[in-house]
Amino acid sequence: MNKAVLIEKAEQLHRLKKSEIAALLSDNTAGKMLAEAANRVRKRYVGDGVLLRGLIEFSSYCRCNCCYCGLRRDNGKAKRFRMSEREIIELAGQAKDYGYQTVVLQSGEDAFFSIERLGKIIEKIKELDLAVTLSIGERSFNDYKILREAGADRFLLRIETTDAALYTQLNPGMSYTERVRCLKDLRSLGYEVGTGSLVGLPGQTIDSLADDILFFQKLDADMIGIGPLVTNPDTPLDGNNCGDVGLTLRMLAVIRLLLPEANIPATTALETLEPGARIMALTGGANVIMPNVTVGEARMNYALYPGKAEVADTPQDCNSILMTELHTIGRYIENSKGFRKHRH
Ligand code: 5AD
Ligand code: SF4
Repeated sequence: MNKAVLIEKAEQLHRLKKSEIAALLSDNTAGKMLAEAANRVRKRYVGDGVLLRGLIEFSSYCRCNCCYCGLRRDNGKAKRFRMSEREIIELAGQAKDYGYQTVVLQSGEDAFFSIERLGKIIEKIKELDLAVTLSIGERSFNDYKILREAGADRFLLRIETTDAALYTQLNPGMSYTERVRCLKDLRSLGYEVGTGSLVGLPGQTIDSLADDILFFQKLDADMIGIGPLVTNPDTPLDGNNCGDVGLTLRMLAVIRLLLPEANIPATTALETLEPGARIMALTGGANVIMPNVTVGEARMNYALYPGKAEVADTPQDCNSILMTELHTIGRYIENSKGFRKHRH
């Protein structure tokens, strides 16, 4: 089947076979047509509103050693910081003042933040009437349950890659089965679940990216974050190529076609590799932006990868740039907590 037929099929049925997904992903002439179809599906299912989620990076300590990430345990060059409970809650208050109705609390896997500590923070933030998303890594079913009861609404945990052998190789000491267990537990506890993958990992194949998309469909993921690898020289992946921006955008578009209701962010990693790619993502299937509300040193030191876009900008700058950018593509900032819109 040629690409136009495949894209039409995906747009109508929201289903494709693995070989068909792989054919679209590997066709670097399909980008424009894919983006246009994804943009139509995005408009039909989730509308023109762009959801903003204020990102608070509250600890750069991590017990994991993911080979691609600057926060990995063995990276002696990483500057480590932890915010106090008060600082985190203050930032959430600022996010509220910027008009955001939801915050994402993100950190490395840091045992200092016990479930009790996190629970207290969540309860305080919920008093501000904000939706709370956690992005804090792997925990037990019971821990996830307590955090959910404390008021957490959503959870982000990327699968990173569904190639189990590659996962094991790039995430030393971690287990693919355990990762999937976490996602299933989160689902069963009633969280909105976000997952996603990295594009451009060494050894990753187009077939495995197609599997990633089928995995998102099977999980019925509510949110899917896709970003290119931004090679970090202080990690074992030093010297590897960065992920391909075109491939990442094709991946994003196919995800919109096959998971039409999902909330899909235009990721910072895309913008870091290619200024302007954020807008391309928003006109090619994405409907979410996660502006960083972390300020000061913490913002500089939460370095997953080099050159994180806009690290030097204040959240206020970020906001006004955004408004203008969105206006030019006929979109607007949606004033809502940004839960998934179920259509069927
Ligand atoms: N480049 C791009 N994304 C990265 N992440 C970690 N390291 C990198 C990197 N070097 C992503 C992972 C993780 C998310 C929080 O950041 O996918 O899930
Ligand atoms: Fe830690 Fe997340 Fe980085 Fe892995 S990707 S080292 S879990 S912060």
